[in-house]
Amino acid sequence: MCGIVAYIGERQALPILINGLKRLEYRGYDSAGVSIWNKKTKVYKRKGKVADLEAFIGNDDLTGNIGIGHTRWATHGEPNDVNAHPHMSMNGKFTIIHNGIIENYSRLRDKLTSFGVTFKSETDTEVLANLIEYIYEKGAVDAELAVRLALSKVIGAYGLVIICSDEPDKLIAARKGSPLVIGVGNEEYFLASDATPIVEYTKSVIYLNDGDVAVITKDQLTLKTDHNKSQTPIIQELNIDIGEIDKGGYEHFMLKEIFEQPRSINDTFRGRVKTENDKIHLGGLYEVMPKLIEAKRILIIACGTSWHAGLVGEYLFEDLARIPVEVEYASEFRYRNPIINKDDVVIAISQSGETADTLAAIQLAKEKGALVLGICNVVGSSIPRETHAGVYTHAGPEIGVASTKAFTCQVTVLAMMAITIGRSKELISDSSYQNLIKEFNLIPEKIEEILQNSLIIKEAAELYKDSTNSLYLGRGYLFPVALEGALKLKEISYIHAEGYPAAEMKHGPIALIDEKMPVVVVATKDSSYEKIVSNVQEVKARNGKIIAVVTKGDTVIRKMADHVFEIPETNPVFSALLSVIPLQLFSYYIAVMRGCNVDQPRNLAKSVTVE
Ligand code: M6R
Repeated sequence: MCGIVAYIGERQALPILINGLKRLEYRGYDSAGVSIWNKKTKVYKRKGKVADLEAFIGNDDLTGNIGIGHTRWATHGEPNDVNAHPHMSMNGKFTIIHNGIIENYSRLRDKLTSFGVTFKSETDTEVLANLIEYIYEKGAVDAELAVRLALSKVIGAYGLVIICSDEPDKLIAARKGSPLVIGVGNEEYFLASDATPIVEYTKSVIYLNDGDVAVITKDQLTLKTDHNKSQTPIIQELNIDIGEIDKGGYEHFMLKEIFEQPRSINDTFRGRVKTENDKIHLGGLYEVMPKLIEAKRILIIACGTSWHAGLVGEYLFEDLARIPVEVEYASEFRYRNPIINKDDVVIAISQSGETADTLAAIQLAKEKGALVLGICNVVGSSIPRETHAGVYTHAGPEIGVASTKAFTCQVTVLAMMAITIGRSKELISDSSYQNLIKEFNLIPEKIEEILQNSLIIKEAAELYKDSTNSLYLGRGYLFPVALEGALKLKEISYIHAEGYPAAEMKHGPIALIDEKMPVVVVATKDSSYEKIVSNVQEVKARNGKIIAVVTKGDTVIRKMADHVFEIPETNPVFSALLSVIPLQLFSYYIAVMRGCNVDQPRNLAKSVTVE
């Protein structure tokens, strides 16, 4: 959740840290801090954004070539200056930045207190800093050993970087359950919780594995396991461009990412879906495809927007591949005793590849002997490494906290998988297959058409920006879209919104409808169309305000609705890919008009690496 950045080399560390923290701010943004070594360790930290930290540093002398920085999403202790990272141990020997949670911190804190250690903050991280220092002062031969011994006493997750004032020519980094990437430069190293702060300096990176401890001087990197076994670092090439992590002229990342969807879906297709060919190529699934085709049941595990994509997947796999599907919140699945049979396949979906609950659910599924596949966006993140096989979405970096292009690319991958299985099982005839692929290939340009009509959506947003509640309705493939539309609105504009299957409305939510209640109905032409027309009438009869997403040329709902957002006609199996776009834009415009911080909504963080 939090962002980590660190530097060691010949350059000035501070600009690299500040720049890196700005790039990482989407991971957490309630406080930020840096520490620079230059004859002594200086720490500057502040509640608020990185800009507040910069103002606080002002013109103070923070020169130095070694430094660590952190942007926080609070877990232990409220967001304030004292709880912000970096944390320094009581005698100032160790300064640390940390992502994750030390679960036994309270017991460790009591013990250290009984030994006379005092604390300034309420954080688990300061406990770790003091534990390391205590062990070091008790006679550990060097800082690395003190860190190793301390980590052996810790229960929980961490990605951390440490400066020891007695050994100031090095950084010590360790990872367990919280990602860390090392950028390899020329006599310099960069560390970060993801590659975004590194890419402008180097494309050569090393992803730490769980249990790794790295000791880094400006010209040497030593990597060992938690059992002190030497490792050969594996250097990989990043394939992100710096342009992908900039706003590219848009006012917000979210808007840029909404408008990127034609391109990101094309990238997800590229090399996989070809019109001239009768197969979809999903290289990452090649070896497991026979098992997938034979699957008696598919279990999809995910959180948030990825869970909504999973729900679309349920309809796709059932429709096209005739495999029963259960879609589970990862956080619920992992705490049950789920029944997984040997013919079941588990699919984990995640944009970040770091969501703690999804990772834990994967672990559980693996322990129960399941084949676990991943659909993930961030290359090299934990989920692709923990799953047996999988497919990358290739959406490109998604920086806006509200997920948009990740959702449509996840649905694209699920559709490719379902079509592949259906085709292999001979459930899809040659001509239906050709029609599906033709229609699938048209999706990016149809999204482009919707985006060109964004003004209509913006005008409607103006009228509803002051609502306090809203209802989102859909049926079939469009029910998950209703859920996703409602989530987008509530998370970035703080308007309460509920998504429902349209027919469920009369079992309770209809009581909420009056002339002040905006009801967003996703009602494009498919087999449920007549039914949803009746649902729209039910809303109309109670004077609800109707905002409908309809198929171009629709006249029936147009007559009843207060506003319509038209989308081009498509095969219903792809309808989620088009119908979600107006809802993303609607939420975006409302949030901007309400003056909300669209890219960094309150209380949220981009990747949820705590349980
Ligand atoms: O990285 P993941 O896809 O695993 O993240 C899961 C959710 O935290 C995420 O989809 C969240 O719901 C979105 N930010 C909502 O827009």
